[in-house]
Amino acid sequence: MSVYLNGRFLPLAAAKVSVLDRGFVFGDGVYELVPVYSRKPFRLDDHLRRLQGSLDGIRLANPHGVAAWRDLILQLVELQDFDDQSIYIQVTRGTPVEGQPLRDHAFPKGAPPTVFMFAQPLVTATPVQKAAGVCAVSAVDNRWLRCNIKAISLLANLLLRQQAVDADCAETVMLRDGYLTEGAASNIFVVKDGVLRAPPPSNLMLTGITYDVVLELAAAHGIPHEVRAISEAEVRSADEVWMTSSTREVMAIVKLDGAPVGAGVPGPLAMRMDALYQTFKQQVMRS
Ligand code: PDD
Repeated sequence: MSVYLNGRFLPLAAAKVSVLDRGFVFGDGVYELVPVYSRKPFRLDDHLRRLQGSLDGIRLANPHGVAAWRDLILQLVELQDFDDQSIYIQVTRGTPVEGQPLRDHAFPKGAPPTVFMFAQPLVTATPVQKAAGVCAVSAVDNRWLRCNIKAISLLANLLLRQQAVDADCAETVMLRDGYLTEGAASNIFVVKDGVLRAPPPSNLMLTGITYDVVLELAAAHGIPHEVRAISEAEVRSADEVWMTSSTREVMAIVKLDGAPVGAGVPGPLAMRMDALYQTFKQQVMRS
């Protein structure tokens, strides 16, 4: 399998970075995950814009312009022997150069960033899995206040997600100060009386590319929707709760902390939105 590392495409086993890389030592970097359908990256410009925002957020200069990123990503896509891919992109603050301290919290001087990308087969949920839905647990969102940065330092998210895994569930729904933020690796929507609701983008969550698509589809198809703060009580009394992400797409959460969500099966709006999302994807693939 070919991966990309600092200007070269090479076999995975040949891709090596220094143990002093800031990504390894400090988790000092950002990432993106771009779904690719039939070798066509989905919403690539949006992902690259979010990458720019993350880099700005950690004060790291973007090593490439949009055209160069696009070119590298398309090359990586073509090198794989599977059509549906998830492209992982990571940019770290690099390895300190000779004469600089080996480990110093201060940003290193003169260190080029490390750019690493690889592709994995994109495995999305099957219709049977979608029809079943998933369970979730809730937890206090104890992350930092800059969750809009897609940082590789994901320790808090990992610990939160593991709470779901330990309960044989798919996701942890996070609440901060009594309000919904997002999932450990997804955005969360709720539905009540036919109205779709999502928390507003802020520093307390990562605004998903899927989140944006879902809201665009709701607007385009006349589905009543509101972007506003959502209380814990509203989450617990919702008719439907969904998780959305590039890899999960639109997935109904049918049980939260052991209690059924609505009727305990994927609701009608979840199924409708998933169908709209699949149609939208097909259009992109055909374009
Ligand atoms: N994560 N919020 C968090 C904390 C996330 O990690 C993700 C996605 C999202 C949804 O973003 P998008 O719709 O752009 O995938 C929201 C990816 C899938 C990951 O870390 O693997």
